[in-house]
Amino acid sequence: VTAVKDQLDPFSLVSDEISPLTDRLRSMVVTEVPKLASAAGYFFKKGVEGKRFRPTVLLLMATALNMPVSMPSVDRLSPTGVIDNLETELRRRQQCIAEITEMIHVASLLHDDVLDDADTRRGVSSLNSLMGNKLAVLAGNFLLSRAFVVLASLENDEIVSLIAEVVEHLITGETMQMTTTSEQRLNMQYYMEKTYYKTASLISNSCKAISLLTEQTAETSTLAYDYGKHLGIITAPLLFAIEEFPQLGEVLQRGFDNPADIDLALDYLGRSQGIQRAKDLALKHARLAVKAIDSLPENDDEDVRQSRQALVDLTKIVIKRTK
Ligand code: FPP
Ligand code: MG
Ligand code: MG
Repeated sequence: VTAVKDQLDPFSLVSDEISPLTDRLRSMVVTEVPKLASAAGYFFKKGVEGKRFRPTVLLLMATALNMPVSMPSVDRLSPTGVIDNLETELRRRQQCIAEITEMIHVASLLHDDVLDDADTRRGVSSLNSLMGNKLAVLAGNFLLSRAFVVLASLENDEIVSLIAEVVEHLITGETMQMTTTSEQRLNMQYYMEKTYYKTASLISNSCKAISLLTEQTAETSTLAYDYGKHLGIITAPLLFAIEEFPQLGEVLQRGFDNPADIDLALDYLGRSQGIQRAKDLALKHARLAVKAIDSLPENDDEDVRQSRQALVDLTKIVIKRTK
């Protein structure tokens, strides 16, 4: 029985909660100006909401950190329902973090597609290609402002600062990428820093925010942050390396009649080493993410155990997806 439970799909564990969360996201981006409403709501429409990877991680983290209320069960069943209400209120606040994170993520994608002049996103037309750069930029700004309305409602200064810093990181990472010099391109430290800002800061600090909403110790909040950081970093190096595979395959197929292809092949060799290194790096971060979960305070609660296992399984899913 345990073995079967361990193989539960991490996404299915929280899918019941993700569906109302998606509905709330849709209602949060409503506005009276029709073009703005359709632009801001574009990636929350049915079929293009994405996997909602971040909300899933954050809700799993919320349960993984859940300390069962240590009161006699008779109190839990008391007519006042005080403890259950507290638990529900906490969960609602943690869901808000998931909503904020998703809105910031989509805002960054809208701006990214403008910067990259992208035609498609999530298998459909990008918003900029459909409605133009101007509306796409405004819609991104609008999503950010709505995210901060939800953030303010939590009335937690530490989390406000944390999320404001995340937005700064996204902008910093994107700017670092845009302005990379040829020396910086070969600089691993620069690359990792950029990767952290661009892809890991949002999920790691959101995991931390989930923990800050509870009565956790600073150590536990750091472990939540560590998990998110390593999970966020796993994907990036591999995806970039593997993106380069198709061209390499083509060169090999053509043979080496054309001298230019020899240069390309040398390029391939360099990159293939890079691919192995990227794989090793991804594995290292996967292990560190798992280590953070394993270091959390012991807990026998079945839901907690299951969510922790799901967070561990997610690292394997991310690695497999990019192999
Ligand atoms: C995708 O990268 C882009 C990001 C993960 C971050 C983009 C950040 C900004 C544009 C800064 C502005 C931020 C906000 C919050 C408005 P990619 O182009 O490498 O990948 P993809 O296009 O294939 O997803
Ligand atoms: Mg892009
Ligand atoms: Mg980009």
